[in-house]
Amino acid sequence: MRQKFITTLVLCALSTQPVWAQTSDPSDTGQTTSSAEQSQTEARPQERDLTEMADGGEEWVQEYTSSDGEELYQSLCSGCHMTDGAGAVGAGAYPALRDNPNLEYAGYATYIIVNGQKAMPSLGHFLDDEQVVAITDYLQTNLDNDYDPDGTVEAVAGIRPAEPVNQNTEEHE
Ligand code: HEC
Repeated sequence: MRQKFITTLVLCALSTQPVWAQTSDPSDTGQTTSSAEQSQTEARPQERDLTEMADGGEEWVQEYTSSDGEELYQSLCSGCHMTDGAGAVGAGAYPALRDNPNLEYAGYATYIIVNGQKAMPSLGHFLDDEQVVAITDYLQTNLDNDYDPDGTVEAVAGIRPAEPVNQNTEEHE
């Protein structure tokens, strides 16, 4: 269910079409792309990769076991924030993580990774606490960021919601 929702969210975030125009055919699993989407994904190949990964749903999530921050970033985050962290403005606005003073302390990124924020889906349920720290360590020391990595598994655990977040009913701002 959650994966399905994320897929929908990613598709909405990445498509220039209005939401209601995307799902007119209930058998449309997102595998087939309209010509409008096609030209967009051709222009932004990384976005298509992300959508395909999200479409992989359960299987993709279960296979998702890397503990390497860079690998996790490239697989999970770069589709929106770009490989070099430069961000992008396309169908949506994806802020740059490169040279970003908001990354001086891990807590900010940790909160957003775990809980999501506006157009960014919450990714906490894909990742264990160590993986979240691996990502914040990577962000704080790469992509032109030069901070002392201060993320801890305790902090991630503290930021996680007590109950798994139901994205269908809860607002995240
Ligand atoms: C589906 C696209 C998408 C994915 C995937 C994604 N993000 Fe984001 N991210 C966004 C958007 C959109 C925002 C802006 C949210 C807002 O408006 O507050 C954002 C904001 C952020 C911010 C806050 C930046 C700032 O300066 O305020 C951080 C940090 C961040 N993302 C990290 C990550 C990390 C790390 C990952 C991978 C684990 C990731 N994001 C995956 C779309 C995405």
